[in-house]
Amino acid sequence: MMEKVQLNMTVNGKEVEVLTEPRQLLVHVLREELNITGPHVGCESTHCGACTIDMNEMSVKSCSVFAAQAQGANITTVEGLGSPDGLHIIQEMFKEHHGLQCGYCTPGMITRAYRLLQENSNPTEEEVRFGISGNLCRCTGYQNIVKAIMASADKLNETSEMKESA
Ligand code: FES
Ligand code: FES
Repeated sequence: MMEKVQLNMTVNGKEVEVLTEPRQLLVHVLREELNITGPHVGCESTHCGACTIDMNEMSVKSCSVFAAQAQGANITTVEGLGSPDGLHIIQEMFKEHHGLQCGYCTPGMITRAYRLLQENSNPTEEEVRFGISGNLCRCTGYQNIVKAIMASADKLNETSEMKESA
């Protein structure tokens, strides 16, 4: 049996310690050791994006990262963006614009949208489509996902303008 290593990370604003085998993939540590099941396992080969998380201010496919590489990392999953009682604007917009059907791609898609809008607060439709091109959805045909992300950009910009003028 492989020797375990202790990892320290910040996940959704909480400092956590996990004892795990260094060969474990980060997505499995999040789901199985920390019970954070927002990141989904789809292809396990970097193609589908269902496992997308935010790590050190980058979108990362957590099936392509060894847990040991996340030592000291700051991680946000879909659970850290909002809660059922206090949805993040992007989550609200996915709901309002029907940006999901089965929901399997949704946590990764929303987490990716979050980083995309952090990097570009006023994207064109083409930029949104390019920005989510690493996240596959088998249900929606993408149209409503793109609408939801464009609407999120508008709402987030409105909210920050309101804060600035307050
Ligand atoms: Fe990670 Fe598909 S499960 S990209
Ligand atoms: Fe089903 Fe995207 S909503 S895979």
